[in-house]
Amino acid sequence: MTPPRHFLTLMDLKADEIRSLIKRAIELKSHRHQGLPHKTLEGKVLAMIFAKASTRTRVSFEAGMTQLGGSALFLSRQDTQLGRGEPIADTAKVISSMVDIVMIRTSAHTDVETFAAHSKVPVINGLTDDYHPCQILADLQTYVEARGEITGRTVCWLGDGNNVCHSWMNAARLLDFELVVACPEGYDPDTKLLSACGNRVRIERDPEQAAKGTDLLITDVWASMGQEDEQITRADTLAPYQLNRQLLETAEPGALYMHCLPAHRDEEISAELMDSSDTVIWQEAENRLHAQKALMELLLSA
Ligand code: CP
Ligand code: NVA
Repeated sequence: MTPPRHFLTLMDLKADEIRSLIKRAIELKSHRHQGLPHKTLEGKVLAMIFAKASTRTRVSFEAGMTQLGGSALFLSRQDTQLGRGEPIADTAKVISSMVDIVMIRTSAHTDVETFAAHSKVPVINGLTDDYHPCQILADLQTYVEARGEITGRTVCWLGDGNNVCHSWMNAARLLDFELVVACPEGYDPDTKLLSACGNRVRIERDPEQAAKGTDLLITDVWASMGQEDEQITRADTLAPYQLNRQLLETAEPGALYMHCLPAHRDEEISAELMDSSDTVIWQEAENRLHAQKALMELLLSA
């Protein structure tokens, strides 16, 4: 039996696979908007394990699998034996003997790796403390729909060098664009990952310098899930990195801006930008559905 194909970080896909996945996501989106059937995963079962909260990831995976003709199971960590200490490896052996594909959202990235190492079926990372690769598939789709190919562009990340930032760093080295990470000292992304990205990613302390002339500005919450008790200190230190109209005006004319959501309005992003009639933020959220449908097709076709 061939080993299953997992999606734990963006590096599990090649650049040309990401490009075809985005093409397919755009096609699936058009099928859905036109009401055309696309039941390519009839009878397949997706297990979704959540150890952290979610709106978009849960709804997009469950709705996506249903629209593809399959079904999805929601398993919260505390309602399964995982919450009572059953080892991840044992859980992986059992769950993967009963379903066709698994999605996990949890804290430690090593937990997703352990699950995948013992799983007979593909495992998808639905967010860990270190990475959020599904989000970047939707973000890339959104960029391609609005502005075309991202290769050769310049992208600016603002705020905390967190899990979503790490996945954007992987996108920069895979798809060959420049990523400027604007963050204060103490909020840098992982140093090992930074050096692996070579000249595709650099850090800039001054947000205006970082945003200057870029084609896309991205931000995310300043305190991620699990960091809630640091919210006040983080909000104070990261305040100069807010994504707002003034900063957007230093970017290239026509630059896009994104936020994976949920957002703290008027903290990391101004409410005015979120409510702007030409924002792609809502399209970005919807694209989680289409990009992940394309991802599940790809992993299940291997
Ligand atoms: N962007 C994102 O992953 O949202 P949820 O936490 O609501 O799933
Ligand atoms: N960085 C955020 C992303 C939420 C989708 C978190 O990990 O909470």
